[in-house]
Amino acid sequence: REEKLKRINESIRAFPDFPTKGILFRDICPILKDPKSLTAVIDLFEEYVRQNHQDVELLVGLDARGFLFGPLLAQRLGIGFSLVRKRGKLPGPTVSVAYDLEYSKAEAEIQEDAVAPGQKVLVIDDLLATGGTLNAACALMKKQQANVMGCLVVIEIKDLHGADKIKPHSVFSLVQY
Ligand code: PRP
Repeated sequence: REEKLKRINESIRAFPDFPTKGILFRDICPILKDPKSLTAVIDLFEEYVRQNHQDVELLVGLDARGFLFGPLLAQRLGIGFSLVRKRGKLPGPTVSVAYDLEYSKAEAEIQEDAVAPGQKVLVIDDLLATGGTLNAACALMKKQQANVMGCLVVIEIKDLHGADKIKPHSVFSLVQY
């Protein structure tokens, strides 16, 4: 486990003042370029889910970088994957909620049939900052009467206290800053 975390840590780059001044952007692209890092991420998520959320039925991933890890993990777990997208990208009947981002405003949307009432879901994204995005995804799940068991992120920016925003839901993160 320590070795896997070390490898993941080494595959995250920081870019100051991106996309706007004052933001230190944590870039996960090197994880995807290194198969061992990517496998380590999915291994550690899988281990956590198998130990803590045996009965999860669906993984829900966030636009856009939640899509990079979500389907890989869902496939490992043998469960389905549904997409939460930025507004206007999904066809058919949809449900949406508005939310604030660290540096802009947005609207999150799912297809009405993306999740079933009572379904046990975990939500996944690359990074937790202010928690606005994950909170919006949890609100969407609530709207559809799904049962959010928790959230998974590769990176958690502790200073921004995003975990407080998504309470009572739990967050599991691999790397913290
Ligand atoms: C980033 C990141 C998370 C979100 C976290 O995505 O990938 O989804 O911000 O921020 P929060 O906790 O303050 O809500 P971004 O909105 O930049 O969209 P992108 O993945 O499409 O680039």
